[in-house]
Parts: sequence; C-alpha cells; structure tokens
Amino acid sequence: MRTEYCGKLNLLHVNKLVTIYGWVNNLRNLGNLIFIDVRDNEGIIQVKFNIKDKKIFAIASKLRNEFCIKIKGIIKLRDKKNRNKNKNTGKIELIPNKLIIINKSKPLPINISKENSEDLRLKYRYLDLRSEKMIKIIKIRSKIMYLIRKFMTKNNFLEIETPLLTKSTPEGARDYLIPSRIHKNKYYALPQSPQLFKQLFMISGLDKYYQIAKCFRDEDLRSDRQPEFTQIDIEASFVTEKYIKKITEKMIIMLWKNIKNIKLKKFKEISYKKSLKLYGTSKPDLRIPIKIIDIKDIIEQSNLKKNNRIAAISIPEGIKLTNKKINYYNSFLKKYNIDKLFWIKIIKIENQNNQIKTPLKNIISGNILNNIINKTMAKNGDIIFFVDEKYDIATKALGKLRNKISKDLNLINKSLYRPIWITKFPLFKINSDYTISSMHHPFTAPLKNTTIKKLKDKPNKIISNSYDMIINGYEIGGGSVRINNIKMQKIIFNILGINDKEQNEKFGFFLNALKYGTPTHAGIAFGLDRIVMLLSNANNIRDTIAFPKTNKASCLLTGAPTNIFNNNY
Ligand code: AMO
Repeated sequence: MRTEYCGKLNLLHVNKLVTIYGWVNNLRNLGNLIFIDVRDNEGIIQVKFNIKDKKIFAIASKLRNEFCIKIKGIIKLRDKKNRNKNKNTGKIELIPNKLIIINKSKPLPINISKENSEDLRLKYRYLDLRSEKMIKIIKIRSKIMYLIRKFMTKNNFLEIETPLLTKSTPEGARDYLIPSRIHKNKYYALPQSPQLFKQLFMISGLDKYYQIAKCFRDEDLRSDRQPEFTQIDIEASFVTEKYIKKITEKMIIMLWKNIKNIKLKKFKEISYKKSLKLYGTSKPDLRIPIKIIDIKDIIEQSNLKKNNRIAAISIPEGIKLTNKKINYYNSFLKKYNIDKLFWIKIIKIENQNNQIKTPLKNIISGNILNNIINKTMAKNGDIIFFVDEKYDIATKALGKLRNKISKDLNLINKSLYRPIWITKFPLFKINSDYTISSMHHPFTAPLKNTTIKKLKDKPNKIISNSYDMIINGYEIGGGSVRINNIKMQKIIFNILGINDKEQNEKFGFFLNALKYGTPTHAGIAFGLDRIVMLLSNANNIRDTIAFPKTNKASCLLTGAPTNIFNNNY
C-alpha cells in the first residue's frame, strides 16, 4: 500500500519508512550510484540507489524513463551540497530497500516535460496528461466543479440531469444526430443545451435547478469553442434578471477567490448598444486601455467622405508603428470592409502647436486635427487611428483593430481579470439573406413593456431581457428572462418564420406545457471550459478538456468520427 504521494513527502518524513508508487521521470547512472526522480500526480521525489546494495542496484540499473514502479524505503536528508531549493522535495531523498518494476515502458512518443506539437499531444493524450501542466489544469477543473456544486446546493438549487438522447433545441448550431435502431429512419438529437428541459422543470415547480451539463453543437470551432462542451446550467422560478445576475456574480467571485485568491470587484454593466459604441464588440476585453471615440462632429467640417460612423481609437505607444506596420493594419481591416485607415501620430502635445505626423495634413485643417487629438485625449507617443464607414462596419472594424493592436503591442495586463455584464441585446438579428433569427434563443423574453403590436411591427427594434457575462473578452455565460406565455411564444416563433405546423412538430410538447400554469422564470448558462481556461491560464479550450476534439472536430486519440463497418444502423 502507498503510504505517501511522491510530491507530498517532506521533512516530517525524515527517517520514516515510506512506500511510493509512480513513474521514472528521469535517471542518472553514475556507475556506483543511480539517481532517479519518481513522479506521481502530486510531484517528484529523488531516489538514490547505491552499488553497495547489490540486489536492488541490479534492478535499478534496468530502469528506464516512464517505467512504472513501487519503492519502499527510508526518507533521508540530502547532504547540504546536494539540496535543490527549487523543488518541494529538494532537501530529502529516498533510500530504497525494496524496488518492484510494475511495468516497463517503451520510450514515449512525446516529451512530457517539454513543448510538443498539439497533434502529437492529442494523439497520445493519456501520456500528455502525465505532464505537470495538464495535471494542474485537470485538478483546477475538478476543484471548480466541486466548488460550484457546493455553492449551488448551499443556495437551494437542485442538480437534476436531463436527457442526452432527445429532440433538437435551437441554440444556433447544427445538431449531432443519433440514429434510432428501433424506429427506422428516425433520429435523436444530442442537446445543444438543456434549455427546454430546464424550463419544463420550472413548470413542474422544481423552483431552482442547476446542472453541470454536456452540450453538443456542430458549428465552426475556435480557440474557445468545442463541439462537445460543458455548461453550468441554471434556472429559477419567480425571479428576475437581477436575482440571476446577483447569484451568479457571487458564484464567479467565489471561484476566483478560491482558485486564484483574487477578489473580483463588483461587476460593471453596460448595454449591448453601448458596448458596441465603446468597444466595437459585445464581448469587450476591458483589460485593453482603449475606447472608441466618435469624431463625426469634428470631421463634419472637413472634406473627407462622410459616413454614418466616423470614430477613432488612440493607441498608447503607437508612435513606434512603422509605415509598413500601419499598412499591415490597413490590409488587416480590408477583410472587415474598411478601405482606408486614417492615422495621426502624436509626437508632442503643445498648447497651440501640436507636433504630429499624418498623411492627412494637406487634406484636413490643423484645427480639425487638434480637435481630434483633444477629443480622443491622445497623449505624447500615441497614434490615433480612425475610420469613416457605415455604422456597423466601422464599429466592428475598430473593435477588431483594438484587440489586434493591443495584442501586438502587449498592451494587455495578463494578470488582470475584468468582468462585465452586457445587457439589453436585441431580441432578433437580421441575417444577410434578410431572414430573422434570435440573438440568443427563441425562448428569451422581450423587455417588460414590449407590446405585441411593436413586436410584430418592428421586430428589429425589440430589446430582450437578456444578459451575458464577459471576462477578458470571453463570453463565459449568457441567459435571459423567459417567455412564460403561450401567445407571446407563438408570436416569436411566427416572427422567426416558424409556422404553426412546424411549431407543433418541433416544439408542440413545450407549447403544450406552457398551458399548465407556467411560472415566471429566468436563467443562465456558463461555459465551464471557458471558466477553467481563464482560471488556469490555459492557452485554449482544448487544454481544459481531458479528451478534446481538434478544430476540425476529430478526436486524434480514437480516430472518431469513423466509418461504421457493421450493419446495426
Ligand atoms: P449560450 O448558447 O450562450 O446559451 O451558451 C452558454 C455558454 O456556453 C458556452 N458555450 C461554449 N463553450 C464551449 N464551446 C462551445 N461551442 C460553446 N457554446 C457556448 C459559452 C456561453 O456563454 N441555453 C442558453 C443559456 C440560457 O439561456 O440559459 C445557452 O446555451 O460560455
């Protein structure tokens, strides 16, 4: 039996007999001494074999990296000169009196203490998970899940599971489908989220629900998206937006305190509209010290082409950007439909005589340039970029530029966490083919005072009772107050182009349930993997999941998805 984990051995164990299990992390054979580091998931201990102890030494000389072994022995203080201050167990070592090789190992295809290509890591994920970095993330994930369960239980939420083999839930992606053996040509859909089931729980009267739930979405993947991911899904009855925001803010503050020992301040809140205006995105990274400033009123007096958004960002230390770099940012913005990126370098601000460098000198007057500098509050050494385009194009482009330059110029303080609630999203979005879809999902309620007439007449102007939580530019959660009235629910479906027949086929069970005394209710879901990513400083979402998929949604370990070679389907 193990008496202690390798990494947990300490000075209190000196002169004690211990039994450890683990893997040979590395090995030095000095002829008459062999040193090995034995590793388990708590850390490493040095073991010293002496040739004087012939029998054990003979076994030890057969050891190779990653052999799985058991050792019994006495913990001793190392000679002073051999102590290693950088290791937890650096002052002690194990003098073995028994060594058993549990299993040999072939040389590993990856080096677990160094960087490896991600493809190789994913193919041999079970070996990659031996690395200190991955063990750390897996432990953080486990602790987060434990803390969430403790917190939710303490706040009277019931953890209730919902089915995985189910019917489609519309969250904006395609479904993963499972063919039914019993019902020929029929399919189950894996849930994109437990949305409808959690609303049904509210109709059941279960009052407060949460679940650490697996969700499946067939969509384009990014560094913060996986086809199979985990939500902390929450719903409560007879509550408003305020309650959901308050309780979940408390949960996030609790997680940051417990995992990072960081005390997050009370979260800011701004509307979707304001977020776009100030940051060019509904997922603003507030660590970036740059805001978008409208300068249309100033440019109005010049002879530049005038669109409905002329806006600027002032970049600290941007003066060092070469013409080549500026051209690069101009071409970066081409993919966001910006033709021309205007710029002004601020060399020195002086009362009436600002020293600047800009290709605009002959195009717009010094007075206007000075006004731009004043309004953007640019400082010595800044570069002001501005664009002149249609509102949505200018906004998106400046948001992208703000993110890109901040990364390139290292303007982001990586040790900060800056949460914010974004609220009051539009209820609908108009797609490029002029079809209408939900900004969140079709069960989101419009703001309280919305009349049915306004909803039908001007759907693109309707604001929803919704809220997203953003931390450092990542959307970690999103939710809303729900529609609890069948009439309103049907109108929304109609606006979305889902006719009565389709409503019945797709959502008949849910529309029916709405008839039986549906309480007011609201909820939210957080992306657990994204929270782990932020709390463990992981580079991407794949590092937070034990067995993730690649950006092409394949599992390099098992080879899934694969052809099916039998006829069971
Ligand atoms: P939504 O679709 O916004 O809302 O999802 C909630 C949160 O889940 C995370 N998330 C993802 N994480 C990893 N990979 C993905 N592909 C992925 N997609 C989403 C995000 C997101 O904020 N049913 C609603 C919630 C509600 O209204 O209560 C829903 O699923 O962090």
